[in-house]
Amino acid sequence: MKITATENGPLRVEGAGELELYDHDGSPVDLEGRDTVYLCRCGGSTNKPFCDGTHSKAGFDGARAAVQSQDA
Ligand code: FES
Repeated sequence: MKITATENGPLRVEGAGELELYDHDGSPVDLEGRDTVYLCRCGGSTNKPFCDGTHSKAGFDGARAAVQSQDA
């Protein structure tokens, strides 16, 4: 599985066929057999946890570079 933060957009998850995704109360999210999914990271999607393109209209500005460790 590979997760990529797209530029000013969602997280692209490739290899999602092996992913188990759950919502806040533990209910499974149906990935409908898709191998690649896009997860919202701007908070604006009306189709969470998936991206619906709202980040473009909202002018979402993602981080320029990821920190190199969780403790940074
Ligand atoms: S990242 Fe696309 S709608 Fe949030």
